[in-house]
Amino acid sequence: MKVLVVIGCQWGDEGKAKVIDHVFDSGYTDCDGVNYGGAKLVFRYQGGANAGHTQVTTDGKKIISHTVPSGVTRKGVYNLLMPGVVIIPDVLIGEIDGFNSSETVITPDNFGIGGRVGITLECHRLEDGWKGGSSINADLGTTKMGIGPTYTDRARRIGVNFAEFLNEDSFRRALDRNKEKSGRDFEIDRYLKMYAGYRNRLAPFLVDEADALDRYAGDIAIAEGAQGIMLDGENGSYPFVTPSSPVRLPVDASHRMGVVKAYTTRVGEGPMPTELGDPQQINTDRPDQRLTEEETRRALDGDELLMGRLLRLKGGEFGATTGRPRRCGWFDAALVRYAVKIGGIDNVVLTKLDVLSRIPKLQVCTKYELAGVPTGIPMDRFGWYGLEPVFEELPGWEGDIRSARMFGDLPKEGRGYVDFVEAAIGRHIDLISIGPKGEETIVRK
Ligand code: GDP
Ligand code: IMO
Ligand code: MG
Repeated sequence: MKVLVVIGCQWGDEGKAKVIDHVFDSGYTDCDGVNYGGAKLVFRYQGGANAGHTQVTTDGKKIISHTVPSGVTRKGVYNLLMPGVVIIPDVLIGEIDGFNSSETVITPDNFGIGGRVGITLECHRLEDGWKGGSSINADLGTTKMGIGPTYTDRARRIGVNFAEFLNEDSFRRALDRNKEKSGRDFEIDRYLKMYAGYRNRLAPFLVDEADALDRYAGDIAIAEGAQGIMLDGENGSYPFVTPSSPVRLPVDASHRMGVVKAYTTRVGEGPMPTELGDPQQINTDRPDQRLTEEETRRALDGDELLMGRLLRLKGGEFGATTGRPRRCGWFDAALVRYAVKIGGIDNVVLTKLDVLSRIPKLQVCTKYELAGVPTGIPMDRFGWYGLEPVFEELPGWEGDIRSARMFGDLPKEGRGYVDFVEAAIGRHIDLISIGPKGEETIVRK
């Protein structure tokens, strides 16, 4: 099997689903000549309902998937959840029903859930702050999807698998063990009753993941990463991370494609050296808002808070899962240089370059310094706070670039920005995304 893995290299929301759309629409050939446009399988290998992946069709329809792989919108493509993923049964059913009321129909013919996929129970969500529950990780700003408690139970060997969930006897016994070892006080009979309907709905999707993978052994596949390397539980900005690992794959990848936004965003808490403005002040922005002319002028004149808001409002930077305003900042090459190394990234896709149009002066962080001495990505969580990002200023460009299809169609300054970022991160940028639709992409070999 030839596997293209699509991995975010910042703090998530880099445009992973948009890039997968482009690969299906126009193909993507790696340096060994493998073209992934004809992929027959898309699988997810980590994360769950915390992810929010947006595809925009040619006629402008927005499709957001959370747990279901982005390939469901494509005819003849099988979509698989591998172990490493966790599901919230009722939330997943809601997602499937949402798709089924549109043109995309999800059936066992195009979607399968591996029996060893983890189950997020009601208690996990409550412990993650859902419905006002108190969470030991409230200071991380999680999505409240129960992700942390589900992976914690899994590591403690008291979790519940999808196959067990489907079998009433196994489910009862797994719940018994969970209750005994965790000291939780949920009522097992209430859980069995509450989940019975969900079990019936999801049962047809059960597959043995090894057999499902093996069916596509001679085919081309796409592994759809969720989150991003800086949120990776092992390699990210710990402890401000998600517990799963976008870097670690269940099968060998033949090509590792890193997705990188032309500026930086982050949802939730944690360090962000190039953030523009005060994170305490962003929470009132709404997607339908625009800056006034006066505010735009002040942003372009160097008001950092307003520049952060300009990027947020222009880039539509609001969480696809929680709707939270994303924190925004200048491009951080020091961060991405680390991420592409740890992620074994072959080539990079630079997304959302169009959002930077009409900003006369662009800043790129090229390195960090600590008390004037160059330093790398902190290994010690407390090392982030005294960091000074060092910026280089680049000229921006005037016009709209969304109709560009060749690198040469970009204004000189736009090409200069891409060349500069490429040199600063140490990886070739072979795709440039200049709009949310699959076709709004420049191929730069
Ligand atoms: P993902 O989680 O990595 O799939 O990314 P999200 O869907 O959470 O966030 C990316 C957002 O940017 C979505 O609203 C996309 O439709 C949009 N998007 C993706 N690429 C581009 C681009 O090149 N330009 C613009 N303007 N929007 C883009
Ligand atoms: P996609 O796949 C952006 C963030 C949360 C929080 C931290 C931990 O769309 O890129 P969790 O609920 O996972 O325990 O929260 O991780 N987070 C994301 N941020 N995009 C995502 O997914 C994210 N999934 C989790 O905001 O800071
Ligand atoms: Mg997202």
